[in-house]
Amino acid sequence: MTEHALLISKLRCTLGDRVLFDGLDLAIAPGESAVILGPSGSGKSTLLSCVLGLIAPDAGAISVAGNAVTEANRSQIARIRAGEIGMVFQFGELLPELSPVENVALAALLAGHRGEVVYERARAFLNELGVPESETVATLSGGERQRTAVARALINEPALLLADEPTGALDTANRDRVAQMLFAIPRTHACGLLVVTHDLAVAERADVVYTIQDGALVRARSPRGQR
Ligand SMILES: Nc1ncnc2c1ncn2[C@@H]1O[C@H](COP(=O)(O)OP(=O)(O)OP(=O)(O)O)[C@@H](O)[C@H]1O
Ligand SMILES: [Mg+2]
Repeated sequence: MTEHALLISKLRCTLGDRVLFDGLDLAIAPGESAVILGPSGSGKSTLLSCVLGLIAPDAGAISVAGNAVTEANRSQIARIRAGEIGMVFQFGELLPELSPVENVALAALLAGHRGEVVYERARAFLNELGVPESETVATLSGGERQRTAVARALINEPALLLADEPTGALDTANRDRVAQMLFAIPRTHACGLLVVTHDLAVAERADVVYTIQDGALVRARSPRGQR
């Protein structure tokens, strides 16, 4: 296991004439969860795009489990993204005609895994996260869909799990269930977790909470009182 699930140093990123990040640092260890809180337009999704290698920053270094995203070429970035990173989106982005098992298994098949074992693993992950068997995800509740999206992000055992506003589309009860499940994952799966959100109730569950101020991260507080 590498020392850091995610390590960002001196990141600088401009979009158009706006400086979004300047001297931004962040370290997340395996087993640790971090939340970045920020208002709309503060650059939360852009930061995740930088980590995923979808946006090339102007300066600075990003590495995921020891793999330098900012040094990698396109095919290396694709390999890091497929092998080391799991991503959960606000609206799940599942394929509605497929079953939960097929949605989760597809992520493993796309990563090159084959055979019935893929489906068995998909079933095990869904079972762990409390998603019922169903013929299509279209009939699942919003919370069940988001838990399916988390299972899909985990199936390839990523070193780093990213989530962009993962509870933004959910009601309070589902938000709490999904958040509770999500923040337990770093310990059970030994990965790092980075959640960006503007939901304070979600941030409360993180080991460390940051806000974006003047292009850098400022530690807001340690809700669990760990440090
Ligand atoms: N491709 C782009 N070119 C220029 N500006 C962009 C581009 N993508 C995003 N922006 C701008 O960068 C800023 C940060 O956007 P971003 O989507 O990262 O914010 P956010 O914190 O995720 O907001 P939200 O909470 O609404 O999702 C915004 O002002 C946005 O308009
Ligand atoms: Mg966003």
